[in-house]
Amino acid sequence: MAKQLHIETVGCQMNVLDSELVAASLVRAGYQLVDNPRKADVILFNTCSVRQHAEDKIYSALGRLKHLKDHHPERIIGVIGCMAQKDQGLIFRRAPHVDLVVSPGQLGRVPEVLERVAAGAGPQMEVSLDRTWAVRLSVERSFLPLDPSQRAPTRPARHQALVRIMFGCNKFCTYCIVPSVRGPEQSRPVDEIEAEVRQLADQGCLEIPLLGQTVNSYKHRAGERTYRLSDLLDRLNDIEGPRRLKFVTNYPRHMTRDLIEAVRDLPKVSPYLHVPAQSGSDRILKRMKRGYTAGAYREMLAQIRQTVPDAAITSDFIVGFCGETEEDFQQTVDLVRDGRFKNSFIFKYSTRPGTKSAEKYADDVPYDVKRRRNNGLLAIQNAISLEDSQSFVGRTVEILVEGPSKTSLKRAETGPAVQLAGRTVCDRIVVCEGDRGLIGRVISVEIYQATAFTLFGRFQ
Ligand code: SAH
Ligand code: SF4
Ligand code: F3S
Repeated sequence: MAKQLHIETVGCQMNVLDSELVAASLVRAGYQLVDNPRKADVILFNTCSVRQHAEDKIYSALGRLKHLKDHHPERIIGVIGCMAQKDQGLIFRRAPHVDLVVSPGQLGRVPEVLERVAAGAGPQMEVSLDRTWAVRLSVERSFLPLDPSQRAPTRPARHQALVRIMFGCNKFCTYCIVPSVRGPEQSRPVDEIEAEVRQLADQGCLEIPLLGQTVNSYKHRAGERTYRLSDLLDRLNDIEGPRRLKFVTNYPRHMTRDLIEAVRDLPKVSPYLHVPAQSGSDRILKRMKRGYTAGAYREMLAQIRQTVPDAAITSDFIVGFCGETEEDFQQTVDLVRDGRFKNSFIFKYSTRPGTKSAEKYADDVPYDVKRRRNNGLLAIQNAISLEDSQSFVGRTVEILVEGPSKTSLKRAETGPAVQLAGRTVCDRIVVCEGDRGLIGRVISVEIYQATAFTLFGRFQ
């Protein structure tokens, strides 16, 4: 019987894509995917290190698996992803029942590592070089993204596929662990991305989010020519089949005019831009080493609004960063008020060992203050999101139907008529009653009601 594999994924879309690609490589090696970890011969955790909370949750989930391993020592438990690169051997010490640790830059090795473990070779670890210890080229070579030339059609949603266009990050924002766990920024060749998108188009894919930690700093040299994100979008826009091209996450300083104009001019490029601001205070932005001022960020927003008036802009903010005063926080509040973001993700600063801010600054904002600022900012953003959503009531929008809605799944609806959930071109979630046959199709829906994060519509 085929070996059963279960993958648990947390973290960002990079991890979602990595899990899909690891699963595909193991399915090719003869494994079968299962939803229930108790039925699995191999359980892999694809992990995230961006905040302490994310890591704590993984370690406690690993702890809960100990008894499973005690009863079935032949079960293989693995930790892959960002925490594998950050914690390395510490994982075996904190969770001795773990059999393998494989970092994001080594995921192509998972099948062979599993074979070694199954053959009784004992705990196995494959991680990339430390960025500060080796020369650039060898570090780059030790971070090998898992982007195969052949995309397996077994991905979770047939009509949507994530495509990585760049790996790693060179920005080193002082609070952030990503550059050390994902390695140096490396852009994939245009031709390779184009071939992958064509293949996905042939498989019936309608929506393609292009991924990169700072996606708009994409840069690839081919002979005399340098391709930037706007050039890549231009190429991909010509491919027949896909209806929507998106790209996440943008770095404010690289939101250039040519890119904003590409969003305006290329019909398949969605007017949806996630451009994290992180703070509205120049003093804090400087400490974060973000490389722009709040004023420059506001100017960038104004340029987007002027060029693409219907763009949905979203952002991330960190509250309670080292040394953040009430006045700094008020400047963030002002930016959220003026920014009119469709929505914002708001995080409490979490100190990450190994980052500059952990080294240089005291994590001196008390937890209660972080929580109060987080809730305060969220309330302001939610009120804006609600107003934004309500402006859609009475309008007809096109949505790509993704599947049954969360409510429908909770109710365990089984018939052909279900509550469906889909997204507009600018990433707004819409639910409507309809037939399962509509899943994966683009349909028109008239909006009759709206909450901050969901539009309710009638299929016409
Ligand atoms: N590459 C993306 C996002 C990376 S992480 C970018 O540059 O925007 C996603 C978000 O997590 C960040 O935008 C930031 O808001 C948040 N984040 C990163 N490190 C954090 C930390 N140490 N504590 C709290 N939030 C953090
Ligand atoms: Fe982290 Fe900054 Fe890179 Fe984003 S740009 S991944 S926040 S270091
Ligand atoms: Fe987390 Fe790694 Fe993404 S640290 S946010 S899973 S790049």
